[in-house]
Amino acid sequence: MIHIAIDGPAGAGKSTIARRLAAQIGFIYVDTGALYRAVGLFALRSHAETHDAAAVTALLPQIELSLRFENGVQKVFLNNEDVSEAIRTPAVSMAASGVSAIPQVREFLFDLQRKIALESNIIMDGRDIGTVVLPNAQLKIFLTASAEDRAQRRFEELQVKSQPADYRQVLDDIRQRDYQDMHRATAPLKQADDAVKIDTTGNTLEQSIALLRGVIREKLGL
Ligand code: DC
Repeated sequence: MIHIAIDGPAGAGKSTIARRLAAQIGFIYVDTGALYRAVGLFALRSHAETHDAAAVTALLPQIELSLRFENGVQKVFLNNEDVSEAIRTPAVSMAASGVSAIPQVREFLFDLQRKIALESNIIMDGRDIGTVVLPNAQLKIFLTASAEDRAQRRFEELQVKSQPADYRQVLDDIRQRDYQDMHRATAPLKQADDAVKIDTTGNTLEQSIALLRGVIREKLGL
């Protein structure tokens, strides 16, 4: 199987870019953040403090997650409920970042991610794909952009979805998530030694897609 790992901070455009690239080269796109988001959503619904390792770990036996792919689109099921939309709110973003620092949560999601990877040619995105989940991926990309650029994109996405948003708040949230994701003890966000770093600051989406498409062609001949 061919594995392409894309890691990077929140809002770098990983999912949009990876989804489009996967469609172009006929791979399955796997968004691992959705799994952490589903655990975060369950913790919020259970009124658990999302940084409390013992409280969140105690919930894990009640959680059954699955990813299903419908026409190339990933759907996330939490105890057989399709939560693909419900996990896309700012509150769930922050909850996901909180629970993702808990080693037991990472372990809980590890097998599922590995199993999907063993079955198909995939582009998988997240924070620790190149470093922990798929250390032997044939191509690793570390995708980043300035915090301001990333906040601007998230702000526009929220506006399109008619979700109330304030640019400063979005930027503060991005900075807080960057800090949490990079400073946790287990599998922190960091560039793998053998990853290609791509900074998309100032790029249009089309430019970034073309850039990554070129790297895939050059490195994998696809
Ligand atoms: O990519 P995202 O914004 O949907 O991810 C939500 C949170 O999940 C993010 O703040 C950190 C965490 N995450 C992680 O720790 N490891 C991954 N492979 C993917 C996401």
